[in-house]
Amino acid sequence: MSRLHSLLAALILWLGAGLAVEAGEMDAVLMIPADGVVRTYTRSALLASPARTTITIAPDPVYGRTMRYEAVPIALLLKETVLGPEDHVQVRAVDGFSVSIPVRLLRGDDPQAFLAIEPPDAPWPVLPVETQTTSAGPFYLVWAKTRPGLVGSEYWAYRVAMLSVVKSPTARWPQLAVATGVPETSPIRRGLERFVEICMACHRFDGAGEAEMGPDLARPMNPVAYFQPAALKAYLRDPGALRTWPERRMPAFDKADLSDEDIGAIIAWLAYKAEPKP
Ligand code: HEC
Repeated sequence: MSRLHSLLAALILWLGAGLAVEAGEMDAVLMIPADGVVRTYTRSALLASPARTTITIAPDPVYGRTMRYEAVPIALLLKETVLGPEDHVQVRAVDGFSVSIPVRLLRGDDPQAFLAIEPPDAPWPVLPVETQTTSAGPFYLVWAKTRPGLVGSEYWAYRVAMLSVVKSPTARWPQLAVATGVPETSPIRRGLERFVEICMACHRFDGAGEAEMGPDLARPMNPVAYFQPAALKAYLRDPGALRTWPERRMPAFDKADLSDEDIGAIIAWLAYKAEPKP
């Protein structure tokens, strides 16, 4: 993490704590660091923006029903930022969730990404998620015009605090890489892709990543070294199938978000990474 990023992370934690304590009293802030400057947007400024529009998401996969939001297109928020076609945007939430989304997808218009803004005078309901006790606000990344399979569930990021422009995860963290000798069609490659898209929103791997919600999955030990293969498969489909407790935060995945093939591929990549390399 660069110094700028550590400072921002500290600021986000502080803001997150502030939001929890004084919910509604202070104006929430979204930060977009890029090109050496940090642009900030307050909730009231975003709600007053001429680009604000009302959108209907039917159904919203997080709330599990049709929702209407006041929102601004993400493409517009990123308009002043210099972006390469292979760049990603790291979307950080106040709770340590941090997902890297390709710029291509964020700037496209089919599906179209919006930042939904929770109006202080019309708060959203509490998330119907076992592990959550607040709404998705004040800022929530939602996707219009999407179809099954296009936008993974991790890309619906709630309680967003910061969007920053970064290189792709494999360019930033060589420790994730698969050697050129591994065939293009190998499940190991698919496993890396899915791991980056889904798991790295909460986990780091051998220090790679920005998430601070779940444990690093390589340090000190890779799960393939201590999980029986069948138990690891069952755990990735639904962690509660192995053990559960009120504070559990690793979600279950349905087959639309994570197929059996994906689970096999992720385990293949984890096992590949656990092999001693020359
Ligand atoms: C929304 C956040 C989140 C996502 C996404 C997520 N995890 Fe987790 N995971 C956690 C947390 C938090 C824990 C620690 C246990 C808990 O609180 O549930 C955990 C625990 C684990 C463990 C158990 C570690 C141990 O030794 O007990 C494994 C293995 C694991 N995750 C693998 C994965 C893989 C592989 C993926 C991607 C398919 C993934 N996780 C996606 C949050 C997440």
